[in-house]
Amino acid sequence: MKERLISQAINVLEENFQPGGFTIPCKGLYPFQWKWDSGFIAIGQAYYDVSKAKQEIATLLDAQWDNGFIPHIVFHNESDTYFPGADVHRSDLSPVSSKKYKSTGMTQPPVTGFVLEEMYRIAKDKEDMFGYIKSQIDKVYDNHKYFYKNRDVNDEGLVFIYHNWESGTDNSPIWDDIWETMNPPEYTFERRDTTHVDASQRPSKREYDHYLYIIEIAKENNYNDAKIAELSPFLVLDPLFNAMLIRSNQALINLYTLIGDNDDKIAQLVKWQVKSIKGFNKKLWDKNLGAYVHYDLRSDEPISFVTSSSFSPLFANIPSKERADILINTMMTKFGGEDKYLCASFDPESDRFDPKKYWRGPVWINMNWILFYGLKNYDYNNLAERVKDDSVELIEKFGFYEYFNCKKGTEDAGYGGGNFSWSAALLIDFLNN
Ligand code: DGY
Repeated sequence: MKERLISQAINVLEENFQPGGFTIPCKGLYPFQWKWDSGFIAIGQAYYDVSKAKQEIATLLDAQWDNGFIPHIVFHNESDTYFPGADVHRSDLSPVSSKKYKSTGMTQPPVTGFVLEEMYRIAKDKEDMFGYIKSQIDKVYDNHKYFYKNRDVNDEGLVFIYHNWESGTDNSPIWDDIWETMNPPEYTFERRDTTHVDASQRPSKREYDHYLYIIEIAKENNYNDAKIAELSPFLVLDPLFNAMLIRSNQALINLYTLIGDNDDKIAQLVKWQVKSIKGFNKKLWDKNLGAYVHYDLRSDEPISFVTSSSFSPLFANIPSKERADILINTMMTKFGGEDKYLCASFDPESDRFDPKKYWRGPVWINMNWILFYGLKNYDYNNLAERVKDDSVELIEKFGFYEYFNCKKGTEDAGYGGGNFSWSAALLIDFLNN
């Protein structure tokens, strides 16, 4: 079974690989290079074609802006199967954007640091991978410097996101209350996603109006971060985003220590790290829920819901052992019933939960991968195995889908894009660990 699944996964990744040296998340629905997708994809590729893994990350980092920013989509090619494309995002409006690539002016969770460390762990030829990492790592460091310089508005070690697409959890019910504070125009545009995927599994038209409105504000201000911090109606501290940054800080510390001669950078990373972990535990822990939550910087209030992002701090060693125990207990009580696959993306007990709709409930393989290693960090090894077994079972039963229904016994429980790259890539890692 294992060999067959791995070879199917490799097939998916090979089919999605593009001549420009990057891998699309899936055909039709996502025809360009996405930042956090690329990171997870490179982890899978490192097992069977290390040169592709190296190219994947090098291509992404080649699209970095002068200020260290890395965009969420790099538009390497023209495609009319996706909306909103390069002509909507207009990265050229920013004076510091890449002159070589068109991109969006928003980013995605900073996974690249820990991805480099994973590639080093997986690579058989360590010396070769070490040389590659040395050639790329400063770009990732510059990206972290960008975040701390431009996005930590309260100087508390936590960086903001200004758009739901920056979170990676695009239409999470977390944002519902923020949409209530806005009243965007009814834009006229032609959706492409719902020609590839059933509309019941995707965000609504009205949600898209909000998404576009925030982009318009950022564009009017030429993607200037200070202006965005002042004017964006959406300004959030996201636990997943910050946990990825913290885990990547640690990866950079580990890799620079191996490389040597980088004491200044290590000292700076350690400073960021100490401050971020402290700020995270102080600001994003919700005592009543027993979980980490999002924080709305506009209303200056926590957004008190439990999502799969609430558990991602385990991956970055953010909670104390005591707090981790509370967090995992919350997860098992709400998400962990025997009738469910781990781990739904939104609290199944909430009336906002929808088991079919993108980030409003379905299980995502990348979040399960983050959870698997997070649980292992705290020696919850049996539970980690369950998360892995659930992930493998979902893919084996239903295929390499983008997301899945968490309710056991559901027919055709695979949703969104088919032959989805990170589901394939992370399955390869699961089956090797
Ligand atoms: C989409 O178009 O839904 C993408 O996920 C945005 O990143």
